[in-house]
Amino acid sequence: MKDKFIYGNWKMNGTNADVKAFLKAVDKKSKNEGVRAGLAVPYTALETAVKKAKNIDIIAENVCWAESGAYTGEISIPMLQEIGVKGAIIGHSERRQMFGETDETVNLKAKALLNADMITVICCGETLETYEAGKTNTFVANQIKKAFKDIPAEQARKAIVAYEPIWAIGTGKTATPEIAQDVCAMIRDTLGKIYNKTVAKDIVIQYGGSVKPANVKDLMKQKDIDGALVGGASMVAEDYIELINFNK
Ligand code: G3P
Repeated sequence: MKDKFIYGNWKMNGTNADVKAFLKAVDKKSKNEGVRAGLAVPYTALETAVKKAKNIDIIAENVCWAESGAYTGEISIPMLQEIGVKGAIIGHSERRQMFGETDETVNLKAKALLNADMITVICCGETLETYEAGKTNTFVANQIKKAFKDIPAEQARKAIVAYEPIWAIGTGKTATPEIAQDVCAMIRDTLGKIYNKTVAKDIVIQYGGSVKPANVKDLMKQKDIDGALVGGASMVAEDYIELINFNK
């Protein structure tokens, strides 16, 4: 059985003091067989998080594909590595919708992260309009094909894909386990066509969108859901502990 990867994403929330207090409360309780705990926090709190986390993989919420140079306002992979950060989320819908992230930049970032052997969480997911038009599969499959363009199989197999339907993010509306499973299965099938079945099986597929202690068990029971990317509930210490320990 593959481990389940349960990661939090604090988005633009949390001071160094918040991160310190949170990890003091949750880190020891985040060691659980069969579950890999992770947490993405803002850049300014990453160093504190790395120092305080023993059982939780600390990752960034974005990263630049270039190593250094004229990229005002950006943070590079070597900069993250210098402070012990293990990876990054890329292509989150909030970055795609508000900050000009494109399928092309997601691909550049995925290549750079995987090349550096960093945890690479590639987000995908459709809007409510696309969902209601019945075009989810075409849209998401296209995001996946573009994200993995020219990435060799031996690197691709280490990637994490987070399927986050935009209509379920922060809305309290979770996709039902069946809807989430169907899209995650379609993502695995798409990866199988790009690579092969073994590589597709190795790739971790998370679901994200209003995941909380009350629904995590049912979601994790689904065949093609290998974990969760959690926003709101990941900022509440008791909820984070429950999510990481969902299998007990
Ligand atoms: O990346 C996690 C996310 O977008 C889901 O947020 O608050 O719906 O769990 P939330």
